[in-house]
Amino acid sequence: MSEDARENYDETYQNYRRYVNPSLARVMKLAGSVVESHAQGSTVWDHQGKQYLDFAGGYGVFTLGHRHPRVVAAVETQLALMGLATKTMFTPALGLLAKRLAEDTPGALEISFVSNSGTEAIEAALKLARAATNRTHFLATWGAYHGKTFGALSVSGRERYQAPFAPLLPDVLHVPYDDVAAMRAAFVAHPQQIAACVVEPIQGEGGIIVPHDGYLTALRALCDEFGALLIFDEVQTGLGRCGYRFACEHEGVVPDIMTLAKGLSGGIMPIGACISTRAVWEAGYKHEPLLHTSTFGGNPLACAAALEALAVLEEEDLASNARVRGQQLLLGLQQIAQAWPDIIAQVRGRGLLIGVELTHEGYAGVLLPEMLKHGIIVAWTLNQQRVLRFEPPLIITEAEVTRCLEVVALALATARERFGSSLLS
Ligand SMILES: Cc1ncc(COP(=O)(O)O)c(C=O)c1O
Repeated sequence: MSEDARENYDETYQNYRRYVNPSLARVMKLAGSVVESHAQGSTVWDHQGKQYLDFAGGYGVFTLGHRHPRVVAAVETQLALMGLATKTMFTPALGLLAKRLAEDTPGALEISFVSNSGTEAIEAALKLARAATNRTHFLATWGAYHGKTFGALSVSGRERYQAPFAPLLPDVLHVPYDDVAAMRAAFVAHPQQIAACVVEPIQGEGGIIVPHDGYLTALRALCDEFGALLIFDEVQTGLGRCGYRFACEHEGVVPDIMTLAKGLSGGIMPIGACISTRAVWEAGYKHEPLLHTSTFGGNPLACAAALEALAVLEEEDLASNARVRGQQLLLGLQQIAQAWPDIIAQVRGRGLLIGVELTHEGYAGVLLPEMLKHGIIVAWTLNQQRVLRFEPPLIITEAEVTRCLEVVALALATARERFGSSLLS
């Protein structure tokens, strides 16, 4: 390592240890984390000039890869005019983005609140659901991840992240994911109180859990039967990631409220969105238009980026590429898994949202740094650290997927050497 690179690493690490998050800094160092320098397309370079294929994809942010030229140009054009909004005047880019979201999202989803993150999009959805229904309760699922602000955390499904902040939002009931009978029982126990049922069409941070076909349809029917709203959190699954523009299209089910974020601006600007039907929006906010607002939400830079990103997504047909490359990756990983049944329990996913469940989370501690050493970035899932996630940009090529599969096999061989089968005993 050159002297400059060493200094760059040491300074950044020490700053993290001292000023950002001391404990996380240590864990990241142990996991072999390096310092990111720059990125283009599916490739990231570190402080030493080493190059990596980004198969973690910012946990779904980099759908278009890094720094897509069309999105960069759109943001530069907007910046030359105006950065943030006055909020006292109309912002053209916000109007255009909301119109585009109404056109692109399924069914009668029409009115958008544009936020700065996924968790804010969820807050917007929960508040709108209460205001629109005059009901208090939410149904959510174990293992779910909806963000870490209070409301979003309350409907997330991992006690470890919730307990230190109790009491959270009251009247949130959790049931197991992909369990229609449990959801029905919760509705039956509170027939007049459920404002909304909030669910990810595929659980991302829960460990890439794909529900059985018919689950989303059954949720729609339950919400209709009990007069509740259906919220689909497509923050991670939406925008081509799962081989459809939105993952709920796999079953053709339309929610009353949908949340988006991560890939919405093509990986250039922070943004989120909560899109609802006109009927729901009017029931909640028609007479109180200032009930839910945000200073930075809907700013022209983020909206310009998102508008261009949505155009690229469609024109380059990236959802189809997610399907084709996703199939290559899924089948390749499943084939590898057959040769390593003591280390890999299951491979699952849809499109380019793929999880590899290990038999023991200790293996992740070897596999992740080992893959990094060979130039492939992957990550675990937040609520299930036994699952490695593969979530590359939707522009990923056949050769890049092939390279990733080669590296997975190499890393498994190292894990076997390191542990034998001791982690299983
Ligand atoms: C499904 C889902 N919802 C919400 C969020 C929260 O988004 P953010 O981290 O932008 O607040 C995430 C983040 O991982 C997510 O995966």
